[in-house]
Order: sequence, then structure tokens, then C-alpha cells
Amino acid sequence: MSPNDWWRHAVVYQVYPRSFADSDGDGMGDIPGLITRLDYLADLGVDAIWISPFYTSPLNDGGYDVADYRSIDERLGTLADVDELVAQAHARSIRVIMDIVPNHTSSEHRWFREALGSPPDSAAWDRYIVREGKGADRETPPNNWRSVFHGRGWSHVRTADGSPTGYWYLHLFDTTQPDVNWSNADVHEEFVSTLRFWFDRGIDGFRIDVAHGLVKQDGLPDYDYVERSESGSILEDSAHAPFWDQDGVHEIYREWRRVADEYDPPRVFCGETWVPNPERLARYQRPDELHTSFNFAYLEAGWDADAMRTSIDDTIANHAKVGAPPTWVLSNHDVVRHRTRMAPVDDDGEPDLERGLRRARAATVFTLSLPGSMYIYQGEELGLPEVTDLAPEVRQDPAWHRSGGTDGTRDGCRVPIPWSGDSPSYGFGAGSASWLPQPTSWAGLSVEAERGVDGSTLELYREALRVRRVEEALGEGPFTWLDHSAEVLAARRTGAEGSSVVSIVNLSDEVVHLPAGWGTDLLVASSPDVAVMSTDASGAFLALGPETAAWLRG
Ligand code: GLC
Repeated sequence: MSPNDWWRHAVVYQVYPRSFADSDGDGMGDIPGLITRLDYLADLGVDAIWISPFYTSPLNDGGYDVADYRSIDERLGTLADVDELVAQAHARSIRVIMDIVPNHTSSEHRWFREALGSPPDSAAWDRYIVREGKGADRETPPNNWRSVFHGRGWSHVRTADGSPTGYWYLHLFDTTQPDVNWSNADVHEEFVSTLRFWFDRGIDGFRIDVAHGLVKQDGLPDYDYVERSESGSILEDSAHAPFWDQDGVHEIYREWRRVADEYDPPRVFCGETWVPNPERLARYQRPDELHTSFNFAYLEAGWDADAMRTSIDDTIANHAKVGAPPTWVLSNHDVVRHRTRMAPVDDDGEPDLERGLRRARAATVFTLSLPGSMYIYQGEELGLPEVTDLAPEVRQDPAWHRSGGTDGTRDGCRVPIPWSGDSPSYGFGAGSASWLPQPTSWAGLSVEAERGVDGSTLELYREALRVRRVEEALGEGPFTWLDHSAEVLAARRTGAEGSSVVSIVNLSDEVVHLPAGWGTDLLVASSPDVAVMSTDASGAFLALGPETAAWLRG
């Protein structure tokens, strides 16, 4: 594999910067804080970090509301800090991926400010999606599109004195995140020059926010909404929605790919693409488009052998058609942490977090053996659960506020992570403060508490990443299913030089015996519950405990 192809097999660690490390004691993580923790990330063994946005922003949506794509929010650092971060990360062989938000700007962006002082049919408003309202008084929004954060997807364009003009602007997210108009040439130029601005500073690539949403269907037709199921998955809205996954979006990524390829080494992209199936997903990874995209269907498969198997098969088959490596992700800053998500629910309706952790560790180990690249969300390597009891007054997710407190899924995974000590802020910052309060029960989950401790989740991740790096069978080679039983997934990975690793996850709550031919040489196990059984006629074989995954030298 050429070094330029690093992204085909990388383990990428997602940093949510406000919640990672706080250097100045204001309770909010920052870039200097992240720099001081790079040794930790190098020791963990990640190949790259993806950092959620740190641009100048009113932080109405955690920085996904960008006021200036080329400056840093003063609470998070300075441009000089970012240069230092890139230099220090590169010195440790860690690549740096930033986050670009091209579907919308903040309403504090200079474009939107300029638009606010201009007539609705002006060139300034053409950079956004503005339409006349319906009805005689134009008091009805141009169509029925809703905001992903609840409520209607359109707000009034108002005059300087605050009266409605009869025109409306589209915001698929918060009212302070107006969607930009990708039919406008300024928009193309601005984003291409923003890409260059950062590529020139040595950034290795971008994760593209809402990559499937930039182009809207001509005529902006009404959408026949399907009510979301309990899981509330955004994927359910993406099947035929006139605002997601429109074919025209691919032209934008062809333009961007040409820019990335001008650099040496070429810069890379990972799209945030909530699309309904692996066939649609693979279209984003055609050779002249994005290098990779998130494969959320696998995340949504949860702890379910059939769903995981189907998702893996579909993902590998469809990516192979376009010659792209799959990606795998189990947690990020928008979803419930997988320890909690995978936990079975007790009789009293509470998640059993001990089993949740057992399952999460098993799912991670198995997923790390799949071909392609893997994304890890900060804190999952410590086994952090979701924080589910945040008080309404500390919550910041706009979806919480816009839903009247019924959609509360995103703050709980953004609580700052614990580094050391017995009480908040657990070494996150100088004092006890953190912008979202940490539970008082996290002392045993800090880096300090887990580092060097046999059997801790942190040591499991370190060991799995180490083995993944050195075992060539866990690289780009073939993946072949092995037969076992309904609740056991097992596959053989084979390296170019003939080495092989068998990866197994037992999703059942019973011990299973593995065929002798799969090997007994244990490389990694997600729990200590693995035993070599006494020889039978066919030789020694392994017993694998419930909800446990293992890699064997095959
Ligand atoms: C993406 C981000 C999410 C953000 C949204 C709007 O889904 O991951 O955090 O709120 O886009 O930018």
C-alpha cells in the first residue's frame, strides 16, 4: 500500500474539541488542550484525528454553525494553535482531518449579514435558498419541509425593523443555520478557496458535514414525510426526500476531488452521508469523488447478528464495485454512545450498562477486524456510557430546545471526558467546571484509572489497535465468512503473504465452542472469558464466553 493510501485502512479518532481537554480552565476544551494530549493519542495507536469544528461560531449547534471558515473561535484557540497542532500531530505520525460545513453557514456569517440588509431578490440573498411564501399574504412557507431539529424548515426574511417581507429562507437545521444555494457560483468559489486555505496549512483532509444534503430537488417540492420510528433514525427520512442525496451533489465532490488531488500528498475526504442503502452510499466513493464516507447503516445494525451480517455483506459488495474501502463507526457526537445503545434493558426499564460494556467491547473488537477504516469517538476507548440525566437547564443541543425537550439524544455523548482524579472535572480542565457537567461516578473510567490496568477498556483498545497494525491479515485482504450458528459471526481475514486471522463475535448469552480448525492462538479477546478446552479427537479448541469477541491466528 502506498503511504498516500493511508486512509484506506486508518483508525481515525474523533475529537469533539469542546469536550476533550481544557487548557485555560474556562470549562470548555480547546486546541492547546488537545495538543497536550497528543501523546495519549499516539500511545493509543491511532493513525489520524478528525476534529469537529473549531471555527468562529456562535456555538448554537456546537460549532456546526460556522461564522467564519478561516478563523478559529477565540474560546477554542487561534490559527497559530492550529498550525502548532498540525506540526505536533505530524511529528507523531498522526494525520489531521478537519470538519467542513458546506450545507449551511451560521446566520452570523458575513454573507448572511449582508443578505439581511438587502432586498430578498438581491445577489446577496441568492447565496441562500430564499423563496416567496404561499397564499395571498405570503404567510405560509414555500413548502412543507421540516427542520431536522424539529419545527418548520423555513423562517421569515425580515426587514431591518423586523417585519416579514413575504420571503422565507430555508434551514434544514436550526434557524441560525441557513442553507446555502449550491447553484450560486460564489458558493463554489468560496468553499474551494476555503479547502485550499486549510490544505495549504498542511491539513490532511476534511470530514464533510451533511455531505448528502447540499443539492435540493428542482422546484423544492413538498415531501410526503414518513413518521420516524422510535429509533428516530435520520436514515428513514433519506430514502426519497427532495433535500437529501440528490444526484447533483456528486458534481460538487468531483470539483473538490480535483482540488485535493493537486496536493502532494493528496488530501482526503470523508463524507457524512446519511443515505438509505449501501448502493447509494457507494456512489459517493466513485474514484473521482470522495475517498470515504460514513457507513451509518452498520452503526444502526446495533447488537444484532443478522443485521450486522447483512450490513457487512452489502457494504463490502457495494464498495468493491467502486474500488473504495468501507468505513465503520459505532459512536460519534450525534448518537447515543454504543455502550448504552447496545445495553439490554432491565425489567425496570434501565439499560444494563455492565452488559452494555461487554457488548460494546465485543462489537468494537469484531468491527476492528473488518476491511477498511474505522472511526473511534473520544471516550469510547474508556468505556464511557451515555449521560442520560442531564438537567434541562444545562442542555445545549438545539434539537432539545426545538423539540420542547422531547429529543434529547445528543448532549449525553458530548460530556467532557475524564482524564484523572476522583471528581469533576477529572483533569479535563484546571478546576471543576465543564460546559456540560460530568457525572460524579466517572473516577473509575478516567485515563489514569485505566492506563496500564489489565482488562481495562483502554488497554483493550490499545492492544487491538496494536495487533491490527502489525497483522497484515487484518489489512485490505479478503474477508470470508465462516459458518457457525445464528448468533455467532465469524470470518477469516487473509493477508497477501498467506497469514490469516479468524475474527469471531458471540452475540448470544451462552458459551460457544469454536471448531478446532479455527485455531487456539489468541491474539485479542474482548473479555477474559475465553478458554482453551482439553483436547478432543480433533485437538484443542476454544470456548468463547457470552457477548465476547476474539481474534485468533487462523
Ligand atoms: C451533522 C453534524 C451534527 C450537526 C448537523 C448540522 O449531522 O454531525 O452535529 O448538528 O450536521 O450541521
